[in-house]
Amino acid sequence: MRAADIPDDLTEILVTEEEIRAKLDELAAQVAVDYAGKDLLLIGVLKGAVMVMADFARALPFSVPMDWMAVSSYGAGTRSSGVVQIRKDLDTDLHGKHVLIVEDIIDSGLTLSWLLENFASRGAESIEVLALLRKPAAAKVEIDCKYVGFDIPPEFVVGYGLDYAERYRNLRDVAVLAPHVYA
Ligand code: PRP
Repeated sequence: MRAADIPDDLTEILVTEEEIRAKLDELAAQVAVDYAGKDLLLIGVLKGAVMVMADFARALPFSVPMDWMAVSSYGAGTRSSGVVQIRKDLDTDLHGKHVLIVEDIIDSGLTLSWLLENFASRGAESIEVLALLRKPAAAKVEIDCKYVGFDIPPEFVVGYGLDYAERYRNLRDVAVLAPHVYA
């Protein structure tokens, strides 16, 4: 669905499907140059990164393996604790691999901070991050993200993989959720 299909649920469209596609094509061209001749592995973080991974991976001009990790935060204050539990681990041995983590959004940065440390301990040759969206104003830790799609304000956004209570992931655009939906 497009944002225009559910106008009552949204207050503002931040990034359109067309803008996302153009940006992912641009990032894919950059990644293709940076990783030419290297043993690249894309790692998507479930579930939000599914749409980004699908479009970004297909924009690359060479064959590339993909693996997936599912994590969840727990403890007091949930994700703000920065403590992460692995729900589904990787199937791939990272030794000697050039890893590119594919994320939909960097919010506080805590999930990625934990993942970067975890992957580094598994012997990856290099680890970089590609994130479609980033909320600089919400950062609790600095993440060195090599490939960023769009910096956005610290609003409650949904679409293109991002959910509210598992809904709106299939919205093609990224938009601000209307407060009445979650109030
Ligand atoms: C989202 C997103 C990132 C993380 C970013 O996942 O996909 O993994 O939050 O937040 P942070 O920078 O504050 O750590 P979420 O935990 O909502 O799970 P989901 O991908 O299954 O929706």
